[in-house]
Amino acid sequence: MSNAIISMHVGQCGNQIGHTFWKTLVEEHGLNVDGTAKDENSQSIVDGKHVFFNQADDDHYVPRSILVDLEPRVINGIIGSEYSRLFSKENVFLSETGGGAGNNWASGYMQGNEVFENIIDMVDREAELAPALDGFNFTHSVSGGTGSGLGSRLLEKLRDRYPKTIIQSYSVFADQEASDVIVQPYNSILTLQRLQECCNSVVVLDNTALNRVVADRLGLPQASFEHVNKLVARIMSSTTATIRFPSALYTRLQHLVCMLVPFPPLRFIQTAFSPIADPKREFVSKTTVKDIMRTIMQPSSMMVSTRSSRSSTDKSCLLQAMAMLQGDFDDRDIPAAYEFVQERRLLRQPPWAMSSPLHIHKAPLSPFVKPTYKVSGMLMANHTNIATLFSEVLGQYEKLRSKRAFLDRFEREEGFSLDLMQEAAEKAKDLLDLYAEINTAGFFGRA
Ligand code: GTP
Ligand code: MG
Repeated sequence: MSNAIISMHVGQCGNQIGHTFWKTLVEEHGLNVDGTAKDENSQSIVDGKHVFFNQADDDHYVPRSILVDLEPRVINGIIGSEYSRLFSKENVFLSETGGGAGNNWASGYMQGNEVFENIIDMVDREAELAPALDGFNFTHSVSGGTGSGLGSRLLEKLRDRYPKTIIQSYSVFADQEASDVIVQPYNSILTLQRLQECCNSVVVLDNTALNRVVADRLGLPQASFEHVNKLVARIMSSTTATIRFPSALYTRLQHLVCMLVPFPPLRFIQTAFSPIADPKREFVSKTTVKDIMRTIMQPSSMMVSTRSSRSSTDKSCLLQAMAMLQGDFDDRDIPAAYEFVQERRLLRQPPWAMSSPLHIHKAPLSPFVKPTYKVSGMLMANHTNIATLFSEVLGQYEKLRSKRAFLDRFEREEGFSLDLMQEAAEKAKDLLDLYAEINTAGFFGRA
C-alpha cells in the first residue's frame, strides 16, 4: 500500500497552485468540497485517498496539507471559499504582521528564521497522523519573497528534520520575457541553491512556457493564472496517479523519484501534458497513443523554456524520462509507441547510455471522473537542456549584480550577507558545469 504524502504550499503562487490541486484531488477521489464522500457507495471503490487525505471520521477526509503565507489575502480567500471546511485550520500559518516579504528573498528567509518552528510543529503533527510518510510535495514560486525566501528556510529545515523522506518540489520560475518582479534573478538564484541541496526532485515550471503552452493550445490571446494553475494541477495529479489508484508499478513517490533521478545532483524535471483539455466538453475525443506521444515528446510542449536544437553543436540529452499514459488503449500500443519514438528520432540519448532512457507506463484513471479524451498522457523528463533556463537566470543575476542594482534592499535585512548570494551563484555555476560535462562522452569514463 502507498504511504502518505504531506503537501506544503508557500506564498501566493504556492497556495494558488495548491488550491487548484486540491480541487482536482477532491474530484478524483469522489469527495464533496467539504471532504465528505459524494456517494456512500463510493466507499466500496478502492482508491488511495489516504495518500493525500487524513480520514478524520468514517465519512470525512481532510487534506494532509499545510498552507503558509506571510500575508493573509490568498489563504483567507481559500479558507473563505466554498472549500472552507475542507482544510484543517490548524494547518494554516499566516504571519502576525501580515505584510508579506515584498518580493525579497532575504526578507522571507529572515522572517522564516523567526517562524519556522511553528510551521514545523504543524508538519510534525501531520506526520504523526500519517501511518507512514513517503514524502513532501512542496509548491512555491522561486521569484517572489515568501515562496522563495521562507520556502528556502522551510526546505532546509525539512531536510534537516526528515533526512530520509522524499521532498519533491513544484518550483515556478518567473516569466523570463516579462517578469513582474524586478529582483527575480536574485531570488531565483538564492532559491535554486536550496532546491539543489534539499530536494530529491524538482519539477521545474516557468511562467513563460506555461503561458505559451496554455494560450497556444486553448487558442487564447493570453493565459490567466487560473488556466495555468489548472495545467500545473493536472501535472501534479497525473504524476501521483499510480500512487493514488491501483497500479502494478510506481506505487510510491520514492519509486518515481529514484527512476527519474539516477544521478542525484541532476534532479530537475521538465513536464509536458496532452491534450490540454477544455473541461466543459461533453464528448470523448478519440485521441490515440501515437497522437499523445508525438505531442508530449515535442520540445514546444514542455512547461519550461529551454533551448535545444537538432544541430550537431547541441549536445544536450535525455537522462531519464517517464511517459505516463492514461485512458482506454491496448497494452500492445505501448511497444508500438517505443518504436514510433525511435523511428522519429524523438530522443537524443547521452553518448554513454547503454539503454533507452524512456519508460512508458499505463497509469490508472480516477474511477470518479469521466475522461474527456480516449487517451491522455504526461511526460516527465530529466533532460540536460534544463541548463539553458538556469544559465539565463544566472546571466540576469550577473547583470544586476555587476551594477549592484537593488542590493540595498537585501543588505537592509538583518542577518543577510552578500556572501549568501555569492555562494548561491557559485553553486549555480557548478550545476551548469556539471550539465555541460555530462553532455560529453567522457563523463563516466573519468571516474
Ligand atoms: P511575496 O508576496 O513577495 O511575499 O512572496 P510570494 O511568494 O507570495 O510571491 P508570489 O508567489 O506572488 O511570487 C511572484 C511570482 O510568482 C511572479 O513571478 C508571479 O508571476 C508568480 N505567480 C504568482 N501567483 C501565481 C500563480 O497563481 N500561478 C503561477 N503560475 N504563477 C504565479
Ligand atoms: Mg505574496
